[in-house]
Amino acid sequence: MATCGPAPTASQRANFVAQMALVPLRTPVADLSGPRDALVSAVKQAFSFDNTACPGMLRLKMSPDHAQLLRAVHEESRRFFDMPRSAKDVYSTPPGYPSGPHRCGGYKIQKAFVDPDGGAEHVLNEWFVAGCPRPIDRSVEPEYYDSAAGHHFYADDTPRSWPEEVPTLRPAHDAYYLATEQVCFQLLEVFEEVIGFAPGDLLRRARREPFYVTTVAHYPELEATPPEGQVRIDAHYDQSLFALVGSCDAVNPLGGNLEVRALDGSWSEVGLGEGELVLNCGEQLARLSNGTLHHAVHRVNTPPAEALAGTSGGSSRSTSRISVMTYFQLDYDADITPIPQCVPEGSEPKYPPSIAAECILYTDPVVSAKLGFDVEAQKKMRIAQVRRASHPPLHLLLCICICIAPASAAD
Ligand SMILES: [Fe+2]
Repeated sequence: MATCGPAPTASQRANFVAQMALVPLRTPVADLSGPRDALVSAVKQAFSFDNTACPGMLRLKMSPDHAQLLRAVHEESRRFFDMPRSAKDVYSTPPGYPSGPHRCGGYKIQKAFVDPDGGAEHVLNEWFVAGCPRPIDRSVEPEYYDSAAGHHFYADDTPRSWPEEVPTLRPAHDAYYLATEQVCFQLLEVFEEVIGFAPGDLLRRARREPFYVTTVAHYPELEATPPEGQVRIDAHYDQSLFALVGSCDAVNPLGGNLEVRALDGSWSEVGLGEGELVLNCGEQLARLSNGTLHHAVHRVNTPPAEALAGTSGGSSRSTSRISVMTYFQLDYDADITPIPQCVPEGSEPKYPPSIAAECILYTDPVVSAKLGFDVEAQKKMRIAQVRRASHPPLHLLLCICICIAPASAAD
């Protein structure tokens, strides 16, 4: 495919060199089917803030059945993303839809750029989002589901947007969602042990129907050089409890893959493999654990200009990539104040009291104000966490503060 963008600039070439210099991170791997003690130990090693080699990511080997479900949702999603833009736009998230996480969603352009001469739009990142297939019995706890916050998180009154052109997408998604949910609950028990909760203390904070979604992200074939600084997903950390990301596309050696920032500020590729999910901690776990668990800054970089097919000396390898992201959330009213077990005797907790909904929604000041949340207090908590993580430069702080994607998609 011929490139239609301008020739790469010197700085973009320098970025390419930097990309090639990225040291592949030897992200540890743990087997979800292995002994529980081994999983607990791997999670402790991967996310303990006092571990100077803390990678902030852990690869999890999936069961063969689960890996097959991931492959199915990956393939069906690709059929959807391969449709013309006009056909995909039919399934766009409806206007006025709540900005926060929700049980149903649809198609969304997450990031794009326009050629400098006012020409074509190039999509860097597009999403299809969908949630739990189980219906909600609101009569069980109407005060939870039908409150103002409940309406925000459980907007079932909005029709679902499933593409008629790919009727196999919905069953593939639903099966993957339910299988991944089982892994999430397995990990909840693991995290309970890691941070010193009594059995069931974390599970009780996720007892309602889930409102989190599976976000399928598509990074299309790169056909033009993006403006300097434009990447597929900006550097951020997730607002969820934790996230699981899977992909069936092999890591592209030219770049454009998931990268994680180490505590010393260097970037490495995570190197997700076939039949694996990558686990990373979110802000809620960092707060609950009083900062003992590290929520790593990560990003999905843009492939370097040299990766554009058709460029001089370029690659014929596709830069298109699909990721399937699940952001596990506690119930929106769950307490995420640091637990006493993680606060050293005689010291104050590092984070003030808070609930999950405040952590999820504070980047939306309008909704936060409606629900009575203190946005400024939440912002201070976030900046304090980043500063503690090895003092990143100011531009990264600013980037993190303004670029946290909804549904933690960030996640
Ligand atoms: Fe993320």
